[in-house]
This record gives sequence, structure tokens and C-alpha cells, in this order.
Amino acid sequence: MKIQAAITGVYGYVPEFVLSNKVLETMVDTNSEWIETRTGVKERRILKGKGLGNSDMAVEAIKGLLKKKNISPEEIDMIIVGTVTPDHIFPSTSNIICDKIGAKNAWGYDVSAACSGFLFSLITGTQFIETGKYKKVIVVGSDKMSAIVDYNDRSTCVIFGDGAGAVLLEPNTEGFGIQDSILRVDGAGKKFLYQQGGGSVQPPTMRSVANLDHFIHQDGQTVFKFAVKGMADVSEEIMKRNNLKSEDVAWLVPHQANKRIIDATAKRMGVGSEKVMLNIQRYGNTTSGTIPLCLWDYEKQLKKGDNIILSAFGGGFTWGAIYVKWAYDTK
Ligand code: UT7
Repeated sequence: MKIQAAITGVYGYVPEFVLSNKVLETMVDTNSEWIETRTGVKERRILKGKGLGNSDMAVEAIKGLLKKKNISPEEIDMIIVGTVTPDHIFPSTSNIICDKIGAKNAWGYDVSAACSGFLFSLITGTQFIETGKYKKVIVVGSDKMSAIVDYNDRSTCVIFGDGAGAVLLEPNTEGFGIQDSILRVDGAGKKFLYQQGGGSVQPPTMRSVANLDHFIHQDGQTVFKFAVKGMADVSEEIMKRNNLKSEDVAWLVPHQANKRIIDATAKRMGVGSEKVMLNIQRYGNTTSGTIPLCLWDYEKQLKKGDNIILSAFGGGFTWGAIYVKWAYDTK
């Protein structure tokens, strides 16, 4: 009897404040039409409020998940957080979340894999469930991108937003859950999408702040090319090695960085747009948040047994695809 890790619940949180393309037009030299046609983003959410950070969004997502599943915080074994915008360098956001929600029996840590953060975290959580020792693992994808976005850089600031999604992983012995994964990294891609300052190579100084080293730096066109190829390659590969034809795939859940990257991935997989989850128009690119937020938005449409492909590409470079057999119908 093989133990597999199944997603048994999902919940999300996005901040209330809506930053529309129209408002962005007043902040930086851009226009709504360019943003919408070149990226697919219409608006994004921004976490406002002094002292609020990533963990505050993740906590809301997890609290919603626990309530929905009727689980107490003490029952959680582990919380794994995919993020590149942790509350602090240390302690980990997971530590802070465990404290804030009262998960007294849990431990956990953060996984840094940029836009592939949720995929890398999901596969990490899967390993713990598959040992048989862990019964309830929460995997969170959460990012407060507004903390590291330079709102004077028009080609980067228009795509990002803030948000968090969380899933519960539990053991399944009926063949449902995470079936397969392909995860990749290529550190040579670092120079095309990175945050220079804040770590041990370039600790914060007056100069690093003045140099804008604490913001995202992105060579959009280069990242775009790598993302189109990377996401499509692994999505196609995971379908092939699991003998999945286009018609066998119920849903593609792509990372939401640019609608054109999503369309290219779906095309390579032979999957029609009616099977592609999208929230980029409302939330933009929430980095680790995009995929669990999509699952949250579309949960009611998912059926037990659906074959789902999760796919992402992000800074670092990091990328990957996961094949999930959905484990439940939503009442
Ligand atoms: O999620 C993690 C991974 N990240 C990604 O996957 C992002 C991948 N890259 C992209 O999505 C796109 O490259 C961007 C959305 C970032 C940029 O779109 P693009 O179509 O690649 O634009 P570009 O940088 O090639 O610029 C084309 C033109 C330029 O003008 P000229 O030189 O042709 O006159 C830019 O100055 O568009 C201009 N431009 C803008 N115009 C209005 C760039 N940004 C804007 C803007 N508003 N916001």
C-alpha cells in the first residue's frame, strides 16, 4: 500500500487594496493597454499597513484552510513556506507563522525558489508525507512582491502583486495526489532576474539602498524566452513520461507571470484555453502565490480523479512541472 501525498484542501488570501493599471499610469510612464496586451494583468493587490509582512497574508490563508477543514492548529505537523519575500532574513517565515496561528506541534522552514517556490515546497512536503510519519503538512506559497518592486521600473513593476495560497497535504493510499514531478535549477540564469542586496554578498548599506540593490532586477525579454521554453519543455516531458495525452489533462495550472508565456505552454501541451487556470488579470504575478491561488479560485470546478499539471518558471533560474491526480470533489 503506497502512501502518496494528496492535496485535501486549499485556501487563499489577497490583500484588499487594488492597484489598477489606471492608477499605475499615474505612478510610472505606462498605459493600461500596453500592460493588458503585453502581460494580461488588469489589476493586482497590494498589502498596505505598517508592520505587515508576508506572514500576515500566509496566516490568513492558513486560518481559512484550518476552519474549512475543521482542523485545530495543534494537529499540524509541518508548515513549509515558498517565498522570496520572507518577513526577515531569519527567523524563517514558517517559524513566525507557527507562532501566530498557535501551531505548537509543528516545525517548518522556508523554501527560496522564486516563482517556482510553491512547486519546490509542494514536492518537499510530499517527501515528508510519503515517509508515513507526517500526517498533516501545510504548504504555503506567499509573497509580498510590493516590498521589493521598484515602482519606477515600468517593465517590471507592472506585472507583480501580493498574495498567499495554502494547501493541506495528507496521506492517500488510493492512488490520488502527487504522481510525478520534474524540478530544475540553473544558477547561470541568476544575472537575468535577481535581487542583489540584502544577503551576505551585498549587505544593506546607504550605498546599496541608493543603488536600488534591494529591488528586483529583471531582464524581461531574456527571462521571457527562457520561461516559454522551460515551462513548455517540462510540461510536455511530464505528460509524455506519464502517458498523458492532451485529452487526459483536465487542467493546466501555470505560474502567472505573463499571459503570453501561459498561452505558449498550453499550446505545446495541446491543451485548450478552457482548461487553463488564470488569475493573472486580477492578481498579477504573486510569485509563489500564483499556483495555490489558482487552485483556490477554481477548486469548485475540480473533480476527484482529474489529471492536473502544475507548471512554473522563475528567477534563479528555477522551473518545473508536477502531475497531480486531484483527490476530492468539492461539495
Ligand atoms: O515570474 C518570474 C519570471 N518572470 C517572467 O516570466 C517575466 C518574463 N518577461 C515578461 O513578461 C516581459 O518581458 C515583460 C512584461 C517584463 C516586458 O514585456 P516585453 O514585451 O518583453 O517588453 P520589452 O521589455 O521588450 O519592451 C518593449 C517595449 C520597449 O519600448 P521600445 O524600446 O520598443 O520603444 C519598452 O520600453 O515596450 C516598452 N515598455 C513599456 N511600455 C509601456 C516596457 N514596459 C512598458 C510598460 N508600459 N510598462
